[in-house]
Amino acid sequence: MASVLADRLARVRAHTVALAAPLTEADAQVQSMPDASPAKWHLAHVTWFFETMVLERFEPGFQPHHPAFRVLFNSYYQGVGDQHPRPQRGLITRPGLAEVLAYRSAVDARLQALLDAPPGRLPAEALALVELGLQHEQQHQELLLTDVLHLLSCNPLSPAYDAEPPAATETAAPLSWLAFDGGLVDIGHSGGGFAFDNESPRHRAWLAPHALAQRLSTQGEWLAFVADGGYRDPRWWLSAAWEWLRAERIEAPLHWRRSEADGPPQAWQTYTLNGLVALDPHRPVVHISLYEADAYARWLAAQTGQPLRLPTEAEWERAAAAGLPQAFGHAWQWTNSAYLPYPGFQPWAGAVGEYNGKFMMNQMVLRGGSLATPYGHSRISYRNFFPPSTRWQFSGLRLARDGG
Ligand SMILES: [Fe+2]
Repeated sequence: MASVLADRLARVRAHTVALAAPLTEADAQVQSMPDASPAKWHLAHVTWFFETMVLERFEPGFQPHHPAFRVLFNSYYQGVGDQHPRPQRGLITRPGLAEVLAYRSAVDARLQALLDAPPGRLPAEALALVELGLQHEQQHQELLLTDVLHLLSCNPLSPAYDAEPPAATETAAPLSWLAFDGGLVDIGHSGGGFAFDNESPRHRAWLAPHALAQRLSTQGEWLAFVADGGYRDPRWWLSAAWEWLRAERIEAPLHWRRSEADGPPQAWQTYTLNGLVALDPHRPVVHISLYEADAYARWLAAQTGQPLRLPTEAEWERAAAAGLPQAFGHAWQWTNSAYLPYPGFQPWAGAVGEYNGKFMMNQMVLRGGSLATPYGHSRISYRNFFPPSTRWQFSGLRLARDGG
């Protein structure tokens, strides 16, 4: 168990460094907005998590790598102590990137030494916390990419994080529907393998008959919503969404740009990790908020006369257990389920009890996984969550329809 974990630790930790490798030191330093963190901060924070949650408790004779890091790289754990203010993470110019990478190496060596202990010496809780540290680091691998994308999108030169051209897409099939019966279904983590605390307990949910789209909504379909004036018509928007849209002057998904020179007005481009590219009508739309996904469903319902809406998380999970196409690897899928505790939810014991439970208010659940989600990190019971105006993540939508 410990040696398997040691191998995974080495691989996951190396992958994070590899993701940051294309960045200049300046790229890794700057914070483009309060929601996003500098890549250097991500590199340090995930290391802080291992140092604080694992080494501090289980390493004999523990000494901190640097006493100041406890505050600098604490994200939101009140039980651990003070935190450097989130919007000011980009101002931490020292330690520099080399020093942060040295911090990583030092903590890696100490973790590997801990895992080298004779069998039975290390409590099961320590191994569980190393596993949690790996899952946490994988979450930050995706955040690192979304934050880098946002940062580089602010540069008028539109630099590409990844110089490779985007992978070719296949033609999106016409939208069709997968019908599901109503009734009682079981959702939540079913045991076996890692899951976050917010995926438990497994419990029963009541579903009415409904259908789910067999694929995600595409950029081409979204363009029709834009071209029809969808962003200017209050009929489609929730009240909070309309206020947000007006205040933020939203007129298209994040990272969409209208070509200003010649070309028809519908000539849009989108900024991606591969740089600025033409919209691909067959590729799933990403970087939309829940507000936009909801408005789109309302607009399309009016166009088609069908009772369209976003799926609930229980509908999504039941369908994913039956092999829902495009469940993973493209875009996180907004649901119209509020992020709330499952019946009987108990946060983990100790400092990591702050991991998920304290955010269960004013956020909405996304299901699935995106093109930036690390391999092996996805699960059908996985609950991602963000406030409804969030759109710098790789968030898209799958439509649902009332009735079969
Ligand atoms: Fe974190």
